[in-house]
Amino acid sequence: MDLWPLDRSGSTDGETTPNAIGGRDTARGPEGSTLTGDRIAAVPVTVRLVPMTDEEYSPFLDGLYREYAADHVRAGRWTEAEGEQKAREEIGKLLPDGRQTANHLLLTIRVDPGDEPVGAVWIAFQPPSPFEPHGAFVYDLEIRPAFRRRGYAEEAMRALEPIARDRGFDHIRLHVFGDNVGARKLYVKLGYVETNVLMAKDLRATR
Ligand SMILES: CC(C)(COP(=O)(O)OP(=O)(O)OC[C@H]1O[C@@H](n2cnc3c(N)ncnc32)[C@H](O)[C@@H]1OP(=O)(O)O)[C@@H](O)C(=O)NCCC(=O)NCCS
Repeated sequence: MDLWPLDRSGSTDGETTPNAIGGRDTARGPEGSTLTGDRIAAVPVTVRLVPMTDEEYSPFLDGLYREYAADHVRAGRWTEAEGEQKAREEIGKLLPDGRQTANHLLLTIRVDPGDEPVGAVWIAFQPPSPFEPHGAFVYDLEIRPAFRRRGYAEEAMRALEPIARDRGFDHIRLHVFGDNVGARKLYVKLGYVETNVLMAKDLRATR
C-alpha cells in the first residue's frame, strides 16, 4: 500500500495511517461549485448504504482517478502528465478485484423518495495481521453537489458505525485535507478527533 509519507509519523496508536483517496476540497466538486452556507432544510434524513453496481462503480472510479491525481499534482508530488496514470496504479493496488476486493466496501448512498443515489462511500476493513495496519479506514466520501447540505453525508457516516462495530472494529479512521473546511466540520460534528496534524508553510509567499 502506498502511504502518504508524512502520515507515517506521529500516529498516536502506533498504527500506520493509509493515504486517503478522497481527501478532497469541498470547493472542487465535479461541477466546480463552491460550498458555503447552512443546511438546506433541517429535516430528519434516512440514508441507505447499498453495494455499488458495476454501472455505478465505473464512473465512481473515473472520478476518483481524476480527483486523486489532482490532489497529488496540487501537493507537488506528481506532474499533470503522470497524475492520472499514477492514480490508476495506486487505486488499482488498493482494489485489485474492483468492487469485489476483500475487506473493502464500496457503497452507494441512497435516499428516499425514489431511492435516489446521492453519493458514495468507500471503507476498508483491514483485519489484524503482522504485515498490515489493522483498522477501519474511510478512503472516500462524496455527496453529489446537487444533494449537499441536506445531512446525507452525516447520516451515511453514522450508518458506517454499526457496520464497523459488527466487524469487530472499535475505531473508524480517515484523512481530510486541512483546507477542506466543510468535511472537517462534518467529522468534528460526528465526534472524530485529530490524531495527526501535518503542517506546511508556503515558501513562495515570503522571502
Ligand atoms: C464533505 C461532504 C461529503 C459533505 O456532504 P453533505 O451531505 O453536504 O454534508 P451534510 O449535509 O451531512 O453536513 C453535515 C455537517 O457537516 C458540516 N458541513 C458539511 N458541509 C459543509 C460546508 N460546505 N460548510 C460548512 N459545514 C459543512 C456541517 O457541520 C453540517 O452540519 P449542519 O448541517 O448542522 O451545519 C460534501 O461536501 C462532498 O462530497 N464534498 C466533496 C468530497 C469531499 O470533500 N469529501 C470528503 C473527503 S475527506
